[in-house]
Amino acid sequence: MTGSAPPLISLRGVSLTLDGKPVLQDVSFDVAQGETKVILGGSGSGKTTILRLVLGLFKPDRGSITVGGKDIGRLSDRQLAPIRRNMAMVFQSAALFDSLSVRENVGYRLWEEGRLPDAEVEEIVRQSLQFVGLEEVIDKMPGELSGGMRKRVGIARALASGAPLLLYDEPTAGLDPVNAFAIGHLILQLKAKGVTQVVVTHDLDLAFRVADHLVMIQRGCMVFTGSPLELAGKQDAEIRGFLDPSSLPAEDWNTLPSRLSQ
Ligand SMILES: Nc1ncnc2c1ncn2[C@@H]1O[C@H](COP(=O)(O)OP(=O)(O)OP(=O)(O)O)[C@@H](O)[C@H]1O
Ligand SMILES: [Mg+2]
Repeated sequence: MTGSAPPLISLRGVSLTLDGKPVLQDVSFDVAQGETKVILGGSGSGKTTILRLVLGLFKPDRGSITVGGKDIGRLSDRQLAPIRRNMAMVFQSAALFDSLSVRENVGYRLWEEGRLPDAEVEEIVRQSLQFVGLEEVIDKMPGELSGGMRKRVGIARALASGAPLLLYDEPTAGLDPVNAFAIGHLILQLKAKGVTQVVVTHDLDLAFRVADHLVMIQRGCMVFTGSPLELAGKQDAEIRGFLDPSSLPAEDWNTLPSRLSQ
């Protein structure tokens, strides 16, 4: 028997309604150990909500979510704590603490946990910043950094936590092509190191570059799951419309956002 490892994350028939609005409907996918999974979809399609569910910040109305084999929908915040320690999130807005230096931001979780001596935390902080090419900003405040630098500091912070599972929410949003390319490169390097990654994005270049598998969400529903090659070959009009809006008839262009996004 080959006995492949069980998935690290598994969503089965997940539905969620928020404020009376169905936000996700019957979403099912697995993330294998070491896999880079991209969740692709337009604005408001439910991508961030999926990450919040995986972090246990929302509970599904229907279906189940297991992380490391544990059904997190049934766990209290206290029971979730050790599972959350295995995950680190790179936020859509970088979400650095403005009143803390880059060093303090990157080492925040390790200092707060208090399990390692200061000198060791400092070393991890330096290594994490070095990995993202920003060791020289260690003493700066977030307000002194560009958007691209802030995003990379956010990745360094996630790395410093040592979590084996990284979740990214729109890691290239608002970045120029060079910075976006650098973020994609970091994700690929982490993939090569065996880190499991879930990347939420509507950046097609990034999605096709880093994904082992993709899930595509439209208005809360899963419309595709498979490899980048399979996605590229899809002829379904809604999927084609998202991947290449200009391929649709010009008389539809004004109404595309309400049909394919939100
Ligand atoms: N806490 C909440 N309460 C009510 N509705 C919410 C809440 N969070 C999200 N929603 C709604 O759920 C839908 C999906 O939101 P979500 O943030 O997951 O989308 P997204 O795909 O991440 O979009 P974007 O690309 O703009 O970040 C949206 O219609 C949003 O208004
Ligand atoms: Mg979002």
